[in-house]
Amino acid sequence: MLPERSNVLHSWCVQADWNAPTIVGGQGARFWDEAGHSYLDMSSLAECMNLGHQHPRLIRAIQEQAQQLCFVNSSWGAAPRRALAQRLLEISGFEGGRVFFTLGGADANENAVKFARQASGRPQGKVVARDRSYHGASYATMAWSGDSRTRVSPADESFSVLRVPPPYAYRCPYGTASDAECAARNVEHIGAVIGQEGAENVAAVLMEPNAGTNGIVAPDNFWPALREQTRRRDVYLIADEVMSGFGRCGEWFAWQEYGEAGRPDLMTLAKGLTGAHIPLGAVILAKHVAAKLEHSMLNTGLTYCGHPLACAAGVAAIAAYQDEHLIEHSRRLGGVMLQRLRAMQDRHAVIGDVRGAKGLFAIVELVKNRETREPLSPWPAMHPSLARFVSLARERGVSFAVRGNLIILAPPLVIEENELERALDIMDALLGELDFT
Ligand SMILES: Cc1ncc(COP(=O)(O)O)c(C=O)c1O
Repeated sequence: MLPERSNVLHSWCVQADWNAPTIVGGQGARFWDEAGHSYLDMSSLAECMNLGHQHPRLIRAIQEQAQQLCFVNSSWGAAPRRALAQRLLEISGFEGGRVFFTLGGADANENAVKFARQASGRPQGKVVARDRSYHGASYATMAWSGDSRTRVSPADESFSVLRVPPPYAYRCPYGTASDAECAARNVEHIGAVIGQEGAENVAAVLMEPNAGTNGIVAPDNFWPALREQTRRRDVYLIADEVMSGFGRCGEWFAWQEYGEAGRPDLMTLAKGLTGAHIPLGAVILAKHVAAKLEHSMLNTGLTYCGHPLACAAGVAAIAAYQDEHLIEHSRRLGGVMLQRLRAMQDRHAVIGDVRGAKGLFAIVELVKNRETREPLSPWPAMHPSLARFVSLARERGVSFAVRGNLIILAPPLVIEENELERALDIMDALLGELDFT
């Protein structure tokens, strides 16, 4: 058989450089390739396999639904779709709200903005989004993302983005020395940008409450202050919970850490919604937003939106998170992981910053000089020793995700403590062995 690199286009890479092993199986926090080499998965592949690999409950739900009925389009009702919407509204507390199902995270974000524009009566309304953010790889979500990977030109204008800095306290764009002050200044800045544009020209603020592939972990005061600011300025707040949702940040959804003070107007989901066992995304609309859409035409939808196989998997996923206490487990092991990473920081001068959410999500940022915080490589380039770190870790049986100067730790929530400790031991050893100068 031809090697995969000869007949498949792979995302986010130079095709000529792609040369990955073929994965043929997995279980829990591990997966293995066709040569029989097994890897502990420290990134849940694409920060999406929150339930681990091959969760039996998900497989069973998909099989049973496939046997019963594979497809119904949205002109008809579908039992698993109704059941999943009900469960999502329960766990998010969006009583009286509505759920729109999508195929993944990008189209969830696109649809959330469509809904915000329609519900606010601002059809051309702009989207406030951050530098160093990622919301998907469709054209619109690429334009809203402030990421080196998704810089699309000249589409930015037509997709109407108002770009603001992130609450990146380690390198605070406002030069503050305190996390809380950095976040407060950032929220003021966002408010000023909305004020300058005129709220009547802004459809929504689209942001992640917490975790993100771009390595930002927002200070604790950021999200509630943003919520307050957007409410005061009469602009919808869309929480992109594609990565931060489903236990990744120690709650069902990251905004829930702040209780009602963090509740967005809309939120978008994917990844952990089915633990990536089958593609599915969703937009949850609060009651007051959904009510505004009740009597007007909804010009959106793709053939497979709300696919029964995916919705059945979503219902099973929620049951698995609950019955296996995975959100609590994520919170507890997230604390263990953060402690271990901070101890590593004491030993390895190359670690400039360690930041973590309240669950199994942490970022380790590498620097040339801890005093000056000079980046190890200019963003988004990667130091050759970090690339070497990834390949040596794989040889030793651990798969890590890295980006620029960041090591992104987001293992499946089903990971056992001894597996986590083992992966961190290997990380610790490699940081000591490799030369980062
Ligand atoms: C925060 C965030 N939003 C949106 C997306 C896009 O999701 P998808 O790849 O399912 O379209 C991602 C994917 O990594 C993400 O991390």
